Amino acid sequence: MQLFDQIQDCIQYIHKHIQFEPTVGMVLGTGLSGLADEIEVVHRFEYSELPHFPVSTVESHKGQLIFGHLEGRAVVAMAGRFHYYEGYTMQQVTFPIRILKYLGIQQLILSNASGGLQTHIEAGDLVFIRDHINLHAGHSLRGENDERIGPRFPDMMYAYDPKWLAHATQIAKENNIRAHQGVYAGLQGPSLETPAEYRYLHIIGGDVVGMSTVPEVIVARHMDLPVFVLSVVSNKCFPIEDLTPTTIEEVLEVVEQASPKAALIVKEIVRLM
Ligand code: HPA
Repeated sequence: MQLFDQIQDCIQYIHKHIQFEPTVGMVLGTGLSGLADEIEVVHRFEYSELPHFPVSTVESHKGQLIFGHLEGRAVVAMAGRFHYYEGYTMQQVTFPIRILKYLGIQQLILSNASGGLQTHIEAGDLVFIRDHINLHAGHSLRGENDERIGPRFPDMMYAYDPKWLAHATQIAKENNIRAHQGVYAGLQGPSLETPAEYRYLHIIGGDVVGMSTVPEVIVARHMDLPVFVLSVVSNKCFPIEDLTPTTIEEVLEVVEQASPKAALIVKEIVRLM
């Protein structure tokens, strides 16, 4: 079945259960999973019941598509996302972003956890992504292109909406939250980087590094969806003299502590949208 028909299938299934028109879509990654509890829920779908959706395998992710209200806005949130390192194809990883678009959202917000690649970026800081470097092995738009969905060669000049970057930076300032704008280097994972790789990523212009987001942003831009990405820095990776071994437990703990700050920013952004 073609991608376009799979999308229609899934949208039809959702509309059979609810008539709800979200304007904002959110991917609640590692940094923002707690925000799912703040949504006044209208309906929840388990990913497993949605036609053509992959099923989440990472423990820290829930795997639900949640419809409801946040800050007075009609939202749809993915509680849990799919990573390429889990073994899904790029098309599977990004299928939910297609669904969010065809549900009618006008803005997409994503969050992630990342490693900091600049001396001034500390664990627990927030980074609003202003650009990316795609170092993934596969590409989410590889294969036949369906012009009904988007163009063959989508532009990436304004991949990250400058307006929301400016708003987020202002909100952080007003609330005394340590935050930066930065470039996200997207890698496949799942191993963390070696010291030489962290240095390389710093040299080529990365401010943070992570294992998600880039395939989703590319697919969102393929469909002309404006994107805002908030990254929670879970570990400091530069200068490499300061490197210590990183465990997933430490990553999750730092992110957990920083998540109220991340939630505050996203709620303010949603309110303004
Ligand atoms: N590297 C890649 N992905 C990450 C890291 C890292 O250091 N920290 C959190 N996600």
